Amino acid sequence: MARIDFVDLAHRYGGSDTPWALQPLTMTWEEGGAYALLGPSGCGKTTLLKLVSGLLTPTRGRLLFDGRDVTALGPRARNIAQVFQFPVLYDTMSVFDNLAFPLRNRGWPEPDVRRRVQEVAELLELSGDLPLQARGLPADVQQRISLGRGLVRTDVAVVLLDEPLTVIDPHLKWLLRRKLKQVHAQLKVSLIYVTHDQVEALTFADLVVLMESGRVLQVGTPEALYAAPAHTFVGHFIGSPGMNLLPCELAEHGVRIGADTLRLDPPLLAAARRMLATTPAAACTLGFRPEAARLCAATDPDALAVPLVSVQPLGTHWLLRVSIGGHPAWVRAADGVVPAAGRVPLRLPSSALVLFVAGRRVAMPADPSAVA
Ligand SMILES: Nc1ncnc2c1ncn2[C@@H]1O[C@H](COP(=O)(O)OP(=O)(O)OP(=O)(O)O)[C@@H](O)[C@H]1O
Ligand SMILES: [Mg+2]
Repeated sequence: MARIDFVDLAHRYGGSDTPWALQPLTMTWEEGGAYALLGPSGCGKTTLLKLVSGLLTPTRGRLLFDGRDVTALGPRARNIAQVFQFPVLYDTMSVFDNLAFPLRNRGWPEPDVRRRVQEVAELLELSGDLPLQARGLPADVQQRISLGRGLVRTDVAVVLLDEPLTVIDPHLKWLLRRKLKQVHAQLKVSLIYVTHDQVEALTFADLVVLMESGRVLQVGTPEALYAAPAHTFVGHFIGSPGMNLLPCELAEHGVRIGADTLRLDPPLLAAARRMLATTPAAACTLGFRPEAARLCAATDPDALAVPLVSVQPLGTHWLLRVSIGGHPAWVRAADGVVPAAGRVPLRLPSSALVLFVAGRRVAMPADPSAVA
C-alpha cells in the first residue's frame, strides 16, 4: 500500500486552448486510507482516477507512490488493482478461479492462493459460491466477484473503484457498501472510490475529496464537509436539501439579507471583515443547514418571522419553503405545529450560521478544519 503525492498534477485532453479537465493539484493521500472522489458529472473524477492508474499521462506535474516517481509508468508497472462499473470476470471459470486469477498470474504458490481466496470470499460472502461457474450468477454476485478480484492481491499500491455499485439494486447497495468498509478495515488496503452519490461517498470514506469543474474544493471527513464546508459549492452539494445560501451584506452586529437582519457572533463578523478587507468587492453569502433552523414561539425575542411559501410533508418531518429577505430557503421541521400559510417564526442559532466571502468560508483563527 502506498502514500500518493500529487505534485502540481494537471490534465487537459486537447491543446493549450482547451480547459483543464483536472486543474493543477498538489496534495498527499495517506497510505491505507479510504478516499471517495465525489462531485457532479464532468467534474474530473474519472480523469483523476485514470491519472492515478496510469491510463492517462498528465499534461503537467508528477505523481509519486511512496516517494517514487511513477508519472511515466503504465498501469501494470504501478501495481494497482481496478474495479469498474460493470463486472469484469471470466464467464467460463468458477468463482474460485476468478478470484485466484490475479494471484496465479503473479506466481503465488497454490496453498497461499487457496488461503487468500478463501479469506476474501468469506469477507464478501462468496464462500458458498466458490465452486460455481461465474456465468449466469446474479449481477450483484458478479460485482462482488469483481470486487474480490480487485481486493485479493496483498501487494497492490492502491485499489481504484470507479462507480462500482452502479449496476447493483438499491437495496443491495448499502449491504455492499458496508462490506467494502469492513473489507477496508480488515485488509487495510488504500482505496480510491469514485462516485457522484453523496450517500455512497459519506458512508464509505474516511476522507471525501469533493470536486467541481476540475478543481478539488475540499478534502475532509464526512463530518467536516457537512459542518464546515470550505466553499459554497460544498455546502450546497452535501445534504438533502443542501445548505441554504443567501446573499447578504455585513451590518453592525450581523448580516442583512434584504430587509431581514440576523445577529452573528462577533469573532465571525470580525473574521469576515478581515477577509473582505483584502477583497473589497467580494460577495458575502450566509449559509445554514435546513435542519439547523428551529420553529419557535412568535414571542421569542430572537424570532425571525418569515413568509411561508409551501409545505412538503415527508412522513417523519416537514420541509418548509420560506423566504428570507426575499430569497428562498428550506427549513426542516421535525416537530411543533406547522402552519398552513402566513408567516412562521424561525430561530437560526448563531452557532449554525456559516459565512462565505467570494464563495469561501470565513474561518475563525483557531478553526482546525479551515481550508485555505
Ligand atoms: N477522452 C476525453 N476527451 C476529451 N474530453 C474528455 C475526455 N474524457 C473526459 N473529458 C472531459 O473532461 C472533463 C472531466 O471528465 P471526467 O470523465 O473526468 O468527469 P467525471 O467526474 O468522471 O464525470 P461522470 O460523473 O460523468 O463520470 C469533462 O468536461 C469531460 O467532458
Ligand atoms: Mg466518471
